[in-house]
This record gives sequence, structure tokens and C-alpha cells, in this order.
Amino acid sequence: MVIRLLPETTANRIAAGEVVERPAAVLKELLENALDAGAKQIRVTLEQGGIGRVLVEDDGTGMGAEDLALAVERHATSKLPEEAMLFAIGTLGFRGEALPSIGAVARLSITSRQREGEAHRITVEGGRKSAVQPTSGAPGTRVEVNDLFFATPARRKFLRTARGEGDAAMDTLRRLALAWPEVGFEAILDGRTQLSLAPATRETRIRDLLGEDFAAAALPIQGGAPGVLELTGLAGGPAFTRATAMEQHLVVNRRPVRDPLLRAALRVAYREVMTPGRHPVAAIFLEIPPAEVDVNVHPMKTELRFRDAAGVRGAVISALRRALGHGVGQAGHMSLGYAGPARLSFPTPPRPHTGFAEAALPLAFSAPAPLAAPQATLAADHPLGRALAQVLETYILAEAPDGALILVDQHAAHERLTHERLSEEMRAGAVRAQPLLIPAVVELPRAAQLAEAAPELAKLGLELEGFGPGAVIVRALPALLGAPDPAPLLRDLAEELAESGEGVALATRLDAAIARLACHGSIRAGRRLTPAEMDALLRAMERTPRAATCSHGRPTYLRLGASEFARLFGRS
Ligand SMILES: Nc1ncnc2c1ncn2[C@@H]1O[C@H](COP(=O)(O)OP(=O)(O)OP(=O)(O)O)[C@@H](O)[C@H]1O
Ligand SMILES: [Mg+2]
Repeated sequence: MVIRLLPETTANRIAAGEVVERPAAVLKELLENALDAGAKQIRVTLEQGGIGRVLVEDDGTGMGAEDLALAVERHATSKLPEEAMLFAIGTLGFRGEALPSIGAVARLSITSRQREGEAHRITVEGGRKSAVQPTSGAPGTRVEVNDLFFATPARRKFLRTARGEGDAAMDTLRRLALAWPEVGFEAILDGRTQLSLAPATRETRIRDLLGEDFAAAALPIQGGAPGVLELTGLAGGPAFTRATAMEQHLVVNRRPVRDPLLRAALRVAYREVMTPGRHPVAAIFLEIPPAEVDVNVHPMKTELRFRDAAGVRGAVISALRRALGHGVGQAGHMSLGYAGPARLSFPTPPRPHTGFAEAALPLAFSAPAPLAAPQATLAADHPLGRALAQVLETYILAEAPDGALILVDQHAAHERLTHERLSEEMRAGAVRAQPLLIPAVVELPRAAQLAEAAPELAKLGLELEGFGPGAVIVRALPALLGAPDPAPLLRDLAEELAESGEGVALATRLDAAIARLACHGSIRAGRRLTPAEMDALLRAMERTPRAATCSHGRPTYLRLGASEFARLFGRS
């Protein structure tokens, strides 16, 4: 066996595999360098989603000729003056890996000028470095990366389409922009301005990136202790949810991270107030002494390790719970003990000539009287029985023909029915579309992707098309859905499609889309139902296969028979 040292280019290409797996990663490294250089304004230009070209121009400190030559050397960094500092990193970069790695697999060109100096340029193409040349240019640095992976064609195959890569790159930019509100960002994708953010306060930046709706409805988070762990930000209320966790922004010491520990803390904090399968929207900022975190655990620095993980987790959960308000969680629990009269309400039949059944006051359940007078006996082919009452405006209480108590989750049950009927209509090629009187324009991230799925979505009765950058126009919705608000529906759908990705089979994507549509087109928890509506729902459930679980796999109803009662009351 002969052990050889790898030639430098090979070593750099291997390192590049870890650091620059796609255009978004290149962009992230270049943006971090610009921010570390103190830039106040950064301009990003992407072509073909960044595969053809990533250009980042900043007005930061710039580099002199010698530094420029060193910048593209492996492990050359200006950011770690002493070894000891590796355990207390205050800059975004620290390894001196990014530029040589990029130069190993693409055509890299850097032009830089310090305020009091001349401009210089260096290029690295597939690992081959040019000499540093004098040139002209504005103060600051301009880094251009062309033809990503031209030197390693095998890696190119792992890239998604230009659109997919462009979306991922824009996502990276948005996450960093949220962490650096005092810096202005501009992004041009294939010649079109996609994002233009002036330097701003954190509040304004959150509003610009997460939307007016979120900012208006969100609850401020405040927690931790100064100097040890400071926790601030905004958390969306339980009604402001998304299909995925993509809009959860976590920033630790100005570094956007996807930290599983923080994700889990969010899940715990929201557990009692959120429908399973839904995700809150939040922007959470943590400031913690650099020595308390290790950012050097992930090649792309998107994950980190806390020294006191349990402490951080606890602080996040309690700050979130405080923000969400005390006692919100209670509605989510069902207790088997006697809950008191206030929690049971009987539906009031619609008053004649008004039709405002929803406005009618519920009668309080005041005495332990029989729940309902026996009426005409129900046929045994109605196993879910007759609706007796609505509980917590969320559950339908029914009595089965054999005397068992049936408790139906109205939203879950209706969602399943809508899902099944939409699937059926689609299989039969006969989805009914309900044209909107006034077509709705909906602005949303990933609009282009949604517009490209238009032919697929049309099969579901959802007719839309692209409407300039960043918006779609909706002309029709599936008739089955009633008239839901198109904006949250489309936002969810876009996220769902982004998550399922392009490689996923059409049938799977359509099924996911149907599940999303069904969720939006279904009656919500919190809506009061008339007895007729409740009975209609029970009958429809009986006719529908797979009605016992909702699209997320949760049960749609529970059944308590005589033997369960006996057990609960200690009679058996
Ligand atoms: N936009 C820029 N403006 C000024 N200096 C820069 C810029 N980009 C890079 N540099 C200089 O080049 C050096 C090398 O950059 P590179 O990104 O390769 O490594 P790093 O940022 O130190 O560490 P990391 O690999 O963790 O990103 C930096 O330490 C910095 O001194
Ligand atoms: Mg760097």
C-alpha cells in the first residue's frame, strides 16, 4: 500500500462537495463573506437559478492585492486571529474553505478594492489560479461564479432544474436577509428583480419577508436573560399556520439555522394549540455568547450545537408559551371527568325566516337530564346514529342505534369526505370547477412554480396562471370546496408542491394537492352546526369508504360503547 497526499485540486474538489452542493450554497458563502466584510448594500444576480452564474457585489471593506491572492488559498482566513478563537466565533465564516472550494468546481472571478486602494482581480477556474491583476472597480468586492460544476460534470447531475435551484437560492437569501435587516439586499433572477429590500429595522424586515398578515397577527416573543441568552422575535398565532415548517425562521447570533432542537421546541410549545400536521410561522432570534455554541458541526454551518441544549430548549419553549398566552392549550384537551355545564351546548334550530342559525345562542346544559328524548328508531344501517349535540363547537356528539356514544371531529371528518369526493371526481375525469366572479390575484413566494403546475391543478378544478413575478391569478376553484379564501389555500399548495419536489410522481403530487384542497374546503373547528348539518355529515361518513381516519391519519370519530362506560365508571 502506498499512501499519497492528494493533489491540491483533488482535495479542493472533495471539500467542495461538502461546502458547495448547489447554487444556493454558493450564494450563502458569498453573502456571508460580504456580511463579514461589513457590507451595507449587497446585490445578487442569478442566471439559470445560479447554475449559470451567481454574482454578488458588496460595498464592504474590500481586499488588497496580497489578501486577494490569499483569499483563494485553502485554509486562508482573516477571521481567526488566534487558535483559541475557534471556540468563540463571532463572524459567519472562519474556515477559509469557501472560495477555494468554489474555485475548484466553477469559474470564479473576484474583483476587490479597498476604500483607499486600487482594484485588483483574480480568477480560479477548475482549481487553476491566475495571477492577481490590477483592474478598475468600485470600493468593495464583486465575486462572480460561472458554470457551476463545469469541472466536475458528475455533480451537475444532482442539481434540480434552474427553477428549483433558483427557488432554493432565493430562500437562502431571504433567510439571511431576515437575520441582517440593517443591510440592503437586491436580487435579480434571469434579468428580473425578485427582491429589493432597503436597510430597515427588524420589524420592517420581518414584515417585508413574512408578509403584512403575519406581522399584524403575530405575538411578540421575549425571553432568556441578558448576557446569557436573549430571545426575541415574533410567533404566529395558532390560527396562522402553514403546511410545512419552511416559514419557521431561526436565527442564532445572526446566523440562520435549521436546528432540530429549536424545531422540536416549537413543536412542543404549539402542541396544544395547533392541529397536528400544521406548522406555525415564526421568526425567532437568539443571542448567546459565542463560546456557548459550536457552529463547526456541519459543513455548511446550517446546524449548530449548544453547550447547554436543555437550557436553550427550555427558554424557547417557555418564551413561546408566554407569547401564545396562558391557558390557550386547555381547549385541546379532552378530559374524561365531568367538565361542568358550560362545556356542552345544544344546537339551536334555525329560527324561521332568519336563517341566522350561527348567531343563535346555545342553550346551556344545566341539569343531568336525558340528553335527548327517544325519537323514531334509527335503522341499523346508520351505524353512526343520530346527532345529539355539538361539543366545544368542534365535535359532534351522536347516539348510535346500539346506544354507543359517538364523538365526531367535524373538521377531520369533513376533510376526509371532501378528499374522497375530489379523488373520485378526478378519477372519473369530471372535477367541477366553480369560476370566481372576480378572478383573485394572490401574491406568494414560489408563484412561478405554482404557475407551472397549472395543467396538473386544472385537473382538480383549480384554474390559475402566472401573473407577473411573484403572483398568480386564480380563475376557478373546485366546486366541492365551497368558497374558501384562495390566498392561504394557494400558499399551502405552493409549499406542498415545493416540498414534494420535481422528482415525485404526478399521482403523488396530485394526491398531496387534493389533501391540501380538502383541508381548506372543509368546515373548521369552531363553526356551529345545525342538527340537520350534523346528521348530513354522519350520513355522508357512512357512505364513504375510509371515513374513519382523516387525510393525516388521525381518527375522525371515537366510539364509546356500553362496556367502555362500565369500565370508566368502575362498574366492571
Ligand atoms: N466579499 C468579501 N469582502 C472582503 N473580504 C473577503 C470577501 N470574501 C472573502 N474575503 C476574504 O477572503 C477570505 C477567504 O474567504 P472564504 O469564504 O474562503 O473563507 P472564510 O470566510 O474565512 O471562512 P469560511 O470558509 O468559513 O467561509 C476571508 O477570510 C476574507 O478575508
Ligand atoms: Mg466565507
